[in-house]
Amino acid sequence: MPLTGLESEDLKMIIFGGKGGVGKTSCAIACAMGLAEKYKTLVISTDPAHSISDSLGQEIGFRLQKVNQVLNLTAIEISAEKAFQQFKKEHESELIKLFDTSTNFDDEDIKQMMSLTIPGIDEVMSFKTIIDLIEENNYEKYVVDTAPTGHALRLLSSPVLLDEWIKMAAKMRWKYRYMIESFSGEYKEDEADVMLLNLKKTVKRIASLLGNSQKCEFIPVCIPEDMAIMETDRLLKELQNFKITSRQLILNNVMESDESGFCRQRKACQLKYIQKVTDLFQKLHVVIVPVFPDEIKGISALEKLKEVLFLR
Ligand SMILES: Nc1ncnc2c1ncn2[C@@H]1O[C@H](COP(=O)(O)OP(=O)(O)OP(=O)(O)O)[C@@H](O)[C@H]1O
Ligand SMILES: [Mg+2]
Repeated sequence: MPLTGLESEDLKMIIFGGKGGVGKTSCAIACAMGLAEKYKTLVISTDPAHSISDSLGQEIGFRLQKVNQVLNLTAIEISAEKAFQQFKKEHESELIKLFDTSTNFDDEDIKQMMSLTIPGIDEVMSFKTIIDLIEENNYEKYVVDTAPTGHALRLLSSPVLLDEWIKMAAKMRWKYRYMIESFSGEYKEDEADVMLLNLKKTVKRIASLLGNSQKCEFIPVCIPEDMAIMETDRLLKELQNFKITSRQLILNNVMESDESGFCRQRKACQLKYIQKVTDLFQKLHVVIVPVFPDEIKGISALEKLKEVLFLR
């Protein structure tokens, strides 16, 4: 059965995730190619390994690039590290002010603090880039490819982590504000307050997009092997904690051929795991994708995968 419901007008963001090497990038791009037949589509990689370029056979990188040979499809590989460095550069004075006024730090402490990362912020900046792109509204569908489970979960939990950091920073500011008010009678918001407020708004925007089941859907990719199924199970439970919706799962690398003894044995071995997937994930619509004789690399191979995903 093919992927369903992706053409719903409200659905903007489709995130692919799963264990390492199960076919996330291939499925995300093939899905984006299918959507691009009807909608202006952007495929976004949040994987530091930047595998979209490898899969497409075209250099993409941290800027919007039209995908060669595919009409209506654009791609970008977001670098969390670069997005965070950009944020630090843009907000250096606010951050210094925040540390300077809210704590007993001396200059050396502040320098050290500035060189440390803020928990969750790299990933939040990745997400901010995605949210900004969605809010610019230049595309109708946004397909997101993630790195293997652990990284994807860090990405999805980043708003919660950053929110905690903001609360802590706001508390420190509150003390500073109280002090100023006690001494001078009035306190005027400064740029550090504005930065914290804007960060808070970004976190809210991300959380409300992720938690909106009409606008955002997560498609786990799995293969018929026990370890991948167990990891998918854990991933789906975490997604529930983040209130992120999944309606369907792609079961990739399924052996369909009976041609050799090897194929028959593999097929028999996979059968019990296919059953396990349907039993364990009863609420999910399962999309079966066969194992192809060749690797999926380049547009024509991705086209074949697209045909399976959309049953064309
Ligand atoms: N159905 C399939 N048949 C044959 N080869 C496949 C299939 N799906 C994926 N592959 C191949 O498996 C390899 C891994 O695929 P892909 O890069 O899409 O996985 P991934 O989950 O994104 O990996 P990573 O976790 O490293 O990001 C690639 O070489 C790809 O060509
Ligand atoms: Mg990948």
